[in-house]
Amino acid sequence: MSRSVLFVCLGNICRSPLAEAALRHQCTAAGLDVNIDSAGTGDWHVGHAPDERAQMVAMKNGVDIAHLRARQVTKADFRDFGFVIAMDGQNLRDLTAMQPRNSVARLSLLLDHVEGRAGEDVVDPYYGKEEGFDKTWEDAMLAAASIRQLLQTG
Ligand code: 4NP
Repeated sequence: MSRSVLFVCLGNICRSPLAEAALRHQCTAAGLDVNIDSAGTGDWHVGHAPDERAQMVAMKNGVDIAHLRARQVTKADFRDFGFVIAMDGQNLRDLTAMQPRNSVARLSLLLDHVEGRAGEDVVDPYYGKEEGFDKTWEDAMLAAASIRQLLQTG
């Protein structure tokens, strides 16, 4: 259970699929068996593939995310995942509000896992230009490196 991570953003088509891909990429390289998934707090994009710009930036970095499909976060996720990691403060507030009282899942922000950036939001690239997705990938890879270490050390 502790070796399971759920990344959460608003739509589950831009930031959280990239965070999922970055951590899976690093865990695979390290030979680490971790259950990794992503979800959205909203339901607008349920069943959709990641945004094409997110697919492109992942592909450019050697990861294919075309098969991923958006889903909405559920109460069961707080039982099934040891770590639930939000992309921004609003996502974190929404998750905190829905976490069942008996859940021991640890909630945090993605950038809490990057030295010197605790409390920062991952900027939502959805309404911006393609470069925004490169920035998201960078943030996701930085955080993935320390999340991987956290999982390795328990
Ligand atoms: P995400 O980006 O939360 O990183 O997946 C968004 C995707 C879609 C919308 C907002 C943010 N939307 O409003 O449809």
